[in-house]
Formats: sequence, C-alpha cells, structure tokens
Amino acid sequence: MNVVLAVGGGIAAYKSAIVVRELQRGGAKVRVVMTKAAQRFIGSATFAGLTGEKVVTSLWEHPGEIHVELGNWADAIVVAPATMDLLAKAAAGLGDDPVLATLSCAKGQVFFAPAMHWRMWERPSTQRSVATLTADGATMIGPDSGPLASGESGLGRMSEPEAIAAAVLAAGRGADLKGATVLVSAGPTHEDLDPVRFLGNRSTGRMGFAVAAVAASRGAKAILVAGPSALPTPPGVERVDVRSARDMEAAIRAHLASADAVVMAAAVADYRPADTADEKIKKSEGGKSLALVRNPDILAGLGAGREGDRPVLVGFALETSDAPAKARAKLERKKVDLVVANLAKHGFGGEENEVTLVDAEGDETLPRSSKRAIAHAICDRIAARLAS
Ligand code: CTP
Repeated sequence: MNVVLAVGGGIAAYKSAIVVRELQRGGAKVRVVMTKAAQRFIGSATFAGLTGEKVVTSLWEHPGEIHVELGNWADAIVVAPATMDLLAKAAAGLGDDPVLATLSCAKGQVFFAPAMHWRMWERPSTQRSVATLTADGATMIGPDSGPLASGESGLGRMSEPEAIAAAVLAAGRGADLKGATVLVSAGPTHEDLDPVRFLGNRSTGRMGFAVAAVAASRGAKAILVAGPSALPTPPGVERVDVRSARDMEAAIRAHLASADAVVMAAAVADYRPADTADEKIKKSEGGKSLALVRNPDILAGLGAGREGDRPVLVGFALETSDAPAKARAKLERKKVDLVVANLAKHGFGGEENEVTLVDAEGDETLPRSSKRAIAHAICDRIAARLAS
C-alpha cells in the first residue's frame, strides 16, 4: 500500500514521525509532504531519514507536477496533524501549498487526523469544514479527548499515531473478514479461593483485545470473551465478561456454533482451588497448603471436538525458553491451526511483542511490533484460511 503522509503545522507534528514508522511496520510505502508551517514544528530531514525519500516541502523545487505524481501514486493520503486552517482550505478546494495541491489530485482514500484546541474544534466553521470533507468522501480519524498543548483538557488532541496508522492500513486491506464471526478470548482468569481471594496471573488482555479490535475493523463480527481486565471494549466489539476458566469455557461454547474462527489469547489458569469457601478463610497457626484441581483445557477441547477445519483455531504459547519448538508441540497436541509463540520476557503487559507464528507450513518470526500489528498478522492468517 502506498501512503502519502501530509504533515500540517501543529504541535502534534512531532508525533507524525511515529505515524510513518507504524505505517511502514504495517507494510506500507510512505512518502511525505509538508506545509511551510509544519516545517517550523519538525524538520523534513526526520521524514527523509525515515522514508528514504525526498520530502516535498514546496511545489517549486521538483521538476514536473509533483502533486499530480503523488496523487496518482498514493492509495491513501493521510493528513496528520490536520489543523483548523488546513481543514478549512481543503474543504474550500484551495491548492496553494504542497499538501493542498496533493489533496486536490488524490486518487485514493483521504484521511484527516485533526489536532487543535478544543474551542477551535468546536467552532461552527471547523465543523462545517469537517462535514464538507466527510460528504466529499474523506474519513476523519479522531480527534481524541485529553490533555491539549494549552494545558487544558478537551476534544481536539490528535489520535495516537498507532491508531492513525491502523485506520489507514485497515482501509487498505478492505473488509476481508466481512461475514465471518471471530470469537476471541483475552485476559487472565480468576479462580476464587473465597469471597475476597483468588488465584490469577499477570495477563492484561492487551493482545486479545487487539485481535478483537482488528477483526472488527476488518469487517468481522468480533465476540470478545474477556477475563477480568481493566481495558475498554474496542469499538464494534461484542464483549462477554467472565471470571474463571470454567466461566470462560461456558461462554466460548455458547458462541461456538456461529464462530468461523476462535482465537484463544486468554491466559487461562490450568488449576483452580479444589474448594471455594463461601466465607472468608480465617488464618490459623502454622502454614497452609492449597489443594488444586485441573481446569479444563478449553483450546484442546475445541481441537478434539472439531470436525473438519472449522472453526479455524488459534492458540498462544507463552514460554520462558525455546518458544517456537514448544509451540509446535502445542500445535500438534491441541490440534489447532496456528500457534502464536512468544517469550515471557518480550510480551507481558507492554504495547509491543516479538512473536513467531507457527503452523503446519512452518515458522514465521515477525519483527518486534505493536500488538495491533501482530493482531493484523494473525487476522491475515485467519482470512487466508477462511478464503481457502
Ligand atoms: N489454554 C486453554 N485452556 C487452558 C489453558 C490454556 O484454552 N486451561 C489455551 C491458552 O489460551 C493458549 C494455549 O492454550 O491459547 C496455550 O496455553 P499455555 O498455558 O501456554 O499452554 P499449556 O497447554 O497449558 O501448556 P504448559 O502449561 O505445559 O505450558
């Protein structure tokens, strides 16, 4: 996918370099055009270094019609940050700088990531610009609510670079999971000892939430069976909250008939206390031992009970050594189609991970990437299997 990043003159321009990096991680080729004001906030050398391409900063320095060439080349143009001024000029159809001229020649999809003070965003004229551009077919990404450059908080903050890149990349891929139902589990399970104590683990749910969000953005009906997690429900995702491994198994089985793919990203507890006390357990002299019993292995149960190759089954393997080899053993033992292997030191809690995709055809180690990018790679594999 070819993407032109058009940088406007706002303080959020410093984040546009990360937009480039995230687009490239998702496989896009990126070229950059900047307004004069943008160059006061971030140097063109930064973008030249990231893209390996000459940055377009003026309509006069290039032989031929650079705006026409860029407009033709781009599958998508994303304006980030899109200032109030740029939105108004683009809505009016002006073309007297490299960004506006390139937009006027856009052949592909156009995105704006607005960034401004909340009062500028609320202004009727800004809202008219947004309405005109949207009616003309452009897509707004954000703005978000949060701290603004003025020190105030409000609606007007540029969306995070990862979200901007994800929206552009998703549009490039199209809705390749449309019509499919993807059932995803995420987070830890909590196995209760008594009304106030439980056995749990450190999973945050980020990976599974990312898979559900990405599946939904690619057109799937995404059902997220979430163990206890503080994360917000991603847009377009249907969420079912559960607590224990047995609750999770019941929720998954309840939705299994409609699922075309099941992604078990949850860190399911392998054991639970043999008894759950109704009253809080009181301390007594000396030590204490806990009797534990095995929980069902949800994924292995799905693999053993499956007839044919639907639903597509994806498991995760979190290991402390030899992740790909152990993942291959899990692939076979649990009779699943794909295992996403990672080492505990890379994955826990962060926004990024380093994983190896293991299936019958072989191993593919992905470069260290955002969990969202990894979710896309998993959805690529699911889409390919559903299409075959
Ligand atoms: N899983 C599951 N039910 C369980 C335990 C795990 O469905 N009771 C799923 C997880 O969601 C994950 C995969 O199985 O997709 C691997 O889990 P993991 O605990 O790493 O592997 P185990 O098979 O339990 O193997 P081991 O404990 O030997 O590492």
